[in-house]
Amino acid sequence: MEFKEVVKNRYSCKKYSEKQVEAEKITAILEAGRLAPTAKNLQEQRIYVLQSADALAKIDQATPCRYGAPTVLVVAFDKNEVFTYPGGKRDSGAEDATIVATHLILAAADEGVDSCWINYFDPDKLAGILGLPENEEILMVLDLGYAADGAGPLPNHESRKPLSETVKYL
Ligand SMILES: Cc1cc2nc3c(=O)[nH]c(=O)nc-3n(C[C@H](O)[C@H](O)[C@H](O)COP(=O)(O)O)c2cc1C
Repeated sequence: MEFKEVVKNRYSCKKYSEKQVEAEKITAILEAGRLAPTAKNLQEQRIYVLQSADALAKIDQATPCRYGAPTVLVVAFDKNEVFTYPGGKRDSGAEDATIVATHLILAAADEGVDSCWINYFDPDKLAGILGLPENEEILMVLDLGYAADGAGPLPNHESRKPLSETVKYL
């Protein structure tokens, strides 16, 4: 798909059908995440693919926002692998994982797969439920699937501020 079409077509899907996402599409989505840039090329993202009933039930314990998605990705990063910027005030972990997650949602749209970025959960609680190692921090959860019949973008999808409100040429 044309990049502009991908950006335009993507929306946050909040009701999924039971149809599972094809394995090759999941691989294509993960591959787009693999190619994302990271600070110092450290690639500290760690991605978990959840599809079994048991795994999805664990997501449902942590958030009401799975919306029936048959695949969920959990994007985390290894806190021991981040780059700490000069001055020591911040590190690359959350931003690198965010770039990876953005590649994932755009690649999903390119594959015709619907998605929703989910942050409505306690990351420590979810990490505990999933049994992640202590050195990993969860950034986000990504619902993946196909929109249920009649589901589509919410009205706020069309509501974006004009550039004049968010951009200033200095
Ligand atoms: C960082 C981030 C966190 C979000 N967290 C949630 C969430 O926890 N639950 C949810 O239903 N939607 C969540 N969303 C989806 C937003 O509500 C949605 O992107 C926004 O309303 C714009 O709609 P659109 O993506 O269809 O254009 C999140 C989106 C972003 C970017």
